[in-house]
Amino acid sequence: MAFSLPDPAAFGEPLPLKARPEVLDFLATRRSATALTLTAPAPSEADVESLLRLAVRVPDHGKLAPWRLIILDAAAKTEFAARLQALAEARGDVKQVAKLGKLKAPPMGVAVVSRPRPGDIPEWEQLMSAAVVCANLLYGATAMGYGANWITDWYAYDPDALKILGLEPGERVAGFIFMGTAKETPLERDRPVVSAQVTRWSPPA
Ligand SMILES: Cc1cc2nc3c(=O)[nH]c(=O)nc-3n(C[C@H](O)[C@H](O)[C@H](O)COP(=O)(O)O)c2cc1C
Repeated sequence: MAFSLPDPAAFGEPLPLKARPEVLDFLATRRSATALTLTAPAPSEADVESLLRLAVRVPDHGKLAPWRLIILDAAAKTEFAARLQALAEARGDVKQVAKLGKLKAPPMGVAVVSRPRPGDIPEWEQLMSAAVVCANLLYGATAMGYGANWITDWYAYDPDALKILGLEPGERVAGFIFMGTAKETPLERDRPVVSAQVTRWSPPA
């Protein structure tokens, strides 16, 4: 499948604000698909290109682009998983081996890597921008009808695994976004009760 996106707007071009009820509908009903249920076909090359364009179009204080994306297509992901498996087996860590299922099943993934820049913009804000890249990828793929799942398992934190992924010092994995075709329809999960999460500010006594 190939979804076409509008041509990129030129710098300074007006982007009129308008109601987008279909986006509201999407946000109210979207659901991640469990990585274990993701199978081929993966998003087409054209769709991946579109998704990457959407992914990097995020709020980013200071325009630092403090993140990068590593594409794990089927072959690369298989090799990455094999190397992680060898690492976990060498440690005799059966739990780590078992956790690789969510990496192995989907036909592709993208690692979103946070790489904060020194300077005036707090690192916290740069990390949050990387999280929004993850969300854009997740939402974009879902809006195309693919299944997508944001995963951080041990291999998002383990220093040896990160070396295999090719991370540089100071870089961190914000998430692996796995994508494919969901072989099961995702079911709604428990959602937070809005009133339990929200207060109205009043001046402290
Ligand atoms: C940073 C982050 C890391 C996550 N890592 C995992 C994970 O390793 N394994 C897992 O099953 N779900 C993980 N999740 C949860 C799922 O991606 C997802 O949020 C959950 O299934 C519900 O998603 P939905 O609201 O998109 O339907 C993670 C979520 C976030 C935000």
